Amino acid sequence: MTESQSASISRTRTAVPRRFLMCRPRHFDVNYSINPWMNPEKPVDNSLAVRQWEGLRDLYRELGHTVLEIEPIDGLPDMVFAANGATVVDGKVLGARFRHVERTAEGPAYLTWFVQQGYEDIYWPEFINEGEGDYLTIGRRLLAGTGFRTDPRSHFEAQEYFGLPVTSLKLVNPNFYHLDTAIAVLSDDEVMYYPPAFSPGSQAVLKEMFPDAILATDEDAAVFGLNALSDGRHVLLPKAATNLQERLRERGFEPIGVDLTELLKAGGSVKCCTLELRD
Ligand code: ARG
Repeated sequence: MTESQSASISRTRTAVPRRFLMCRPRHFDVNYSINPWMNPEKPVDNSLAVRQWEGLRDLYRELGHTVLEIEPIDGLPDMVFAANGATVVDGKVLGARFRHVERTAEGPAYLTWFVQQGYEDIYWPEFINEGEGDYLTIGRRLLAGTGFRTDPRSHFEAQEYFGLPVTSLKLVNPNFYHLDTAIAVLSDDEVMYYPPAFSPGSQAVLKEMFPDAILATDEDAAVFGLNALSDGRHVLLPKAATNLQERLRERGFEPIGVDLTELLKAGGSVKCCTLELRD
């Protein structure tokens, strides 16, 4: 065990109350396929999806977090994945511009919500970016994914808009098409990730930035274990990611397994359903 690993274990983990935006999966379905998880032939149980989603929302509230809800729109079955709706840092809102036509209407729908809530600094981007699906905030930096959805030119656009350093990371495995399916932020300086989801160059960058990161196994990644949300102490992640839960406990976190199997049929889980409002 390295020195910083043992330091991280003895660290006291404190949860910081967060503000989240979520979207009830009232119109959730899988009737098109824009990632390898989506099979329109496979039936979806909408009421089960709603119950599982409510479980996550209620859990956030029980943990002391604030959850706001955006009204779901009929005809936008993926709108439940609120993480993709925007990126909010320091109260500044970078709008999302989706890669696929099936989801393009979600960008303006989410931006309208921010306007109605009174956010004043809102930016409609020039380049394609899928919100927090590909932008993860860690401390005062952003990790930015590209390869499948977000245009790499968006990374510079985000850097200039937020005035924060942005590190570009390239995704290479279509099963992990968004950054938040391949890496999870655990604290201001810790992450867990699945190396094979990244290009060799980006793997080297991650190793350089986070030498003691928790590395996910193939099994953890296959059940979407990295699509997790940490409040600094509790880490909510798919229930089936048992190895990751063990690793998290060793580092002093409190992992909480969540059942969102119905939403996984669209290639989403905990983090995908959650947009953090960093006001
Ligand atoms: N079906 C959606 C898509 O492919 C899932 C989005 C998951 N969201 C996320 N933040 N990874 O776009």
